[in-house]
Amino acid sequence: MTRKPHVYGNWKLHNTLNASEELAEAIAEGTKNYAEKVNIGVAPVFTSLVNVRRILGEVSHIKLLGQNGYPKPNGAFTGEVSFSLLSDVGCDGVLVGHSERRHLFGETNKLVGEKVESALQTGLEVILCLGESLSEREEGRTWEVVEEQLESAMFHVPPVSREKLIIAYEPVWAIGTGKTATPQQAQEVHALIRGKIRESWLGDAADKVIILYGGSVNDKNAKDLFSQKDIDGALVGGASLKPESFISIIQAASESQQ
Ligand code: PGA
Repeated sequence: MTRKPHVYGNWKLHNTLNASEELAEAIAEGTKNYAEKVNIGVAPVFTSLVNVRRILGEVSHIKLLGQNGYPKPNGAFTGEVSFSLLSDVGCDGVLVGHSERRHLFGETNKLVGEKVESALQTGLEVILCLGESLSEREEGRTWEVVEEQLESAMFHVPPVSREKLIIAYEPVWAIGTGKTATPQQAQEVHALIRGKIRESWLGDAADKVIILYGGSVNDKNAKDLFSQKDIDGALVGGASLKPESFISIIQAASESQQ
C-alpha cells in the first residue's frame, strides 16, 4: 500500500447510546498505537454522534463520521439531517451513497451527486460508496454500473475539494453476506476507478485518492485485500461492531505499510 491506509467502521443501525459509548471507548483505547500509520474512523447512528464525539475527545485520532445526510442546510424536510448539522455536532466526514441507501431507500445517482456537493461545501470528508449488484456482475456490467455512479458523483466535486473525497468500492453482493470479493476482483475495479479519476482530473491527483474496499471485510481476509496495489483500506460493517476484530483489521492495515 503506497498511500496512508484508512479503516472506517460503519455501525449501521446498531447500538444504543451506552453500547456506542462503550464501543467508541474500546476502539479509542485499543488503536492508539496505530494512529500514526492508519487513518481510523467510526460512523455511529445519528442519536449517538454527540456522545461518541465526547468520548473520542475534540481532537482525536479517530474520525467521527455520519452515515448519511440531506443536501439542504435546513427547511421543511421532516426526518432529515443536513450535512451542516453533522458538522455542527463534530463530524469530520460522512458516508454518501451507501448501497443500503441506494437499494433500500431509492437514492439515485442524481441525489447522491447532490449529497456529495452539499457535504463537500460543508467541509466534510466524503466517503462515496459505489458498487454493482450480483445480477449486474453476472451480466458483465460491473464497470458500466460503477463508472456511471462514479462519473455522476465526480461531476459535483470541485477541484478545491478533491482531497476530501474518498471512494469506497462495495460490491452489493459482498455486503453483510460473508462473501468477500477476492483481492483480485477488488483490485481490478479499484484500478479502473483510479484510472477513471486520472482521466477526469488530468494529473497525479488520482494517485493520492484513497479507494477503500467494503463488503464482508474481517480480521481473516483484510491482510490479503490490503496487499493489493490500489486497495487503500476498508469500510467495515459487521466486523467493526466488535473491538477485537476492528482493531485486528487496523493492525493489518498498519502492517501493510511496512
Ligand atoms: P459488511 O458491511 O462489512 O458488514 O459487509 C460493509 C458496509 O456496508 O459498509
